[in-house]
Amino acid sequence: MKNVFVKTFFFSTTQTTKKIVTGIAGGLARMSGGKEVEDVDFTLPGARKEPASFGGQDLVVAGIPVYAGRVPNLLLKYLRTLRGNGARAIAVAVYGNRHYDDALVEWKDILEEGGFKVIAAGAFIGEHSFSRILGAGRPDAQDMVQVEEFARRIYAKLSTQTLLECVSLAGDRSYRPYYQPKDKDGSPVSILKVVPKTSNDCIRCGLCVGLCPMGSIDEDDPSAITGICIKCCACIKYCPTGAKYFDDPNYLWHKQELEEAFTSPRREPEFFF
Ligand SMILES: Cc1cc2nc3c(=O)[nH]c(=O)nc-3n(C[C@H](O)[C@H](O)[C@H](O)COP(=O)(O)O)c2cc1C
Ligand code: SF4
Ligand code: SF4
Repeated sequence: MKNVFVKTFFFSTTQTTKKIVTGIAGGLARMSGGKEVEDVDFTLPGARKEPASFGGQDLVVAGIPVYAGRVPNLLLKYLRTLRGNGARAIAVAVYGNRHYDDALVEWKDILEEGGFKVIAAGAFIGEHSFSRILGAGRPDAQDMVQVEEFARRIYAKLSTQTLLECVSLAGDRSYRPYYQPKDKDGSPVSILKVVPKTSNDCIRCGLCVGLCPMGSIDEDDPSAITGICIKCCACIKYCPTGAKYFDDPNYLWHKQELEEAFTSPRREPEFFF
């Protein structure tokens, strides 16, 4: 673990993925002698203009949230430009207490195709973007104990193996289809075009404009959505006056179904080496 630079690389609109990857990276940096962690946050559009590039001395804790059981589709184009250059990576997927399905194996494959050597992988739980009760408040203190344990086990692997084995993950390389919302009759529906509404409580503070990962909220009129909405819910969860909301019936039904089916039992983090 000498001359290793611990870095993070993550997309995280409601901060749960960020909390987990920075926790793992912080633990690894501390265990390996205390160099500062460098964060590479690709949440905002400006950060995705140039390909991210790493080097052979880097140990990169790479995190994505799970969207529809997969790596967020709209990030794929950018992620295919990644340059790992032989850096070691830890693949982390964070999901909202339903399931991560094929997202972790897909993420590991993307990192390997980008030139990383993936030596460990972990699935963690964060509060679901759509909800305040599904995975409420996670990652919580119990999760952060697991984050520390994961870092300890990665450190042990790095310290004891001279020739590091890559992680192996079960999964079908054709990947499961994207998880599909259904309407009240059980028929598949698309919520791709659904965008948030804005109430009169908006004070035009501009916070949501700067948070939107798609750059889709109009600077001059924050009630106008000018581009793609990935339903990340950052604008909804962080608006100081609670002015942003979804009212699309199919979206609301999907959210309710998820809350009813997946709020319990509490799912726990899983590690793969
Ligand atoms: C469009 C979308 C789809 C999602 N799909 C899933 C899913 O399939 N399974 C799941 O458990 N959570 C799902 N989630 C919840 C997120 O994975 C989870 O809330 C994650 O913690 C968000 O990460 P962030 O806080 O770093 O943005 C989805 C969230 C969004 C916005
Ligand atoms: S964060 Fe809320 S109050 Fe601020 S501009 Fe956006 S919608 Fe309006
Ligand atoms: S407009 Fe859509 S993509 Fe942008 S912050 Fe709001 S929910 Fe996320």
